Amino acid sequence: MTEAETRALLVSLAGSLYARGFSVGSAGNISVRLEDGGYLITPTNSCLGRLEAARISRLDAAFAHIGGDKPSKEVFMHRAFYTARAEAGAVVHLHSTMATAVACLADADADNPIPPLTPYFVMRVGRRMPLVPYYRPGDPAMEPAIAAAAADARAVLLANHGPVVSGRTLTDAVYAAEELEEAAKLALLLRGASPRLLTGAQVADLLATFG
Ligand code: 13P
Repeated sequence: MTEAETRALLVSLAGSLYARGFSVGSAGNISVRLEDGGYLITPTNSCLGRLEAARISRLDAAFAHIGGDKPSKEVFMHRAFYTARAEAGAVVHLHSTMATAVACLADADADNPIPPLTPYFVMRVGRRMPLVPYYRPGDPAMEPAIAAAAADARAVLLANHGPVVSGRTLTDAVYAAEELEEAAKLALLLRGASPRLLTGAQVADLLATFG
C-alpha cells in the first residue's frame, strides 16, 4: 500500500470509528507503520472524525517528527507496542465507553479484565489483555509499563483511561478495537451473572486456527 493509500485508509477508518461513537471530541489516536519503516500518527488534539490526510503527522523510523501537524502526545504509547511486538503494523488507542468502564472497575482482574466470552474477542484481541496501572495521559513513564505488558499481549487496557490495541495492519487493529469494545459491553452486561466462558481448550483452538 502506498503512503497516500495508507493516509486515505486512516482518514476513512478513523472517521468510521468516530461516526459510530468509538471516540468523542479529540480523544484517541491511531498510528500505522509505513513500508519505509516510518510511521503515520494522528496529530495531537485532532478529532478522529475530521482528519485531513495531508496533515497527519509523519514520523521517521526512530519516531522523530518529520512532517505534518504536531503528533499525538501518546507517541511513546504507540512506540511501546512497535518495540515490544515485531508483527505490529498499527496501533489504535481509544477512550471507547465500555472498555474504559471496565478500566475503571476497582475489582477488575489486572491480568485479564475481560474474560474469553466470544470467539471473535479471542481471535482479534488474543488470549489476554492485561490492565496497565493509571498514568496521566502523555506521561512518558507509561512507555516501559506498556512495553512490558505488550510483550505478551496484542492489547492492553490503561486503568481509568482506555484501551490500546495493536494489529498486523491498520484494518486489523481497528477491527480488534471494535471487538474489544463489544467484549467489554458483554462483560459489563454479564457482571454478577454466571456466564459460560470459553474453555482453555477452546481458546487454544481459536488461537491455533486464527491466531
Ligand atoms: P492526543 O490528542 O495528543 O492524541 O491525545 C488524545 C488521547 O487520547 C490521550 O490519551
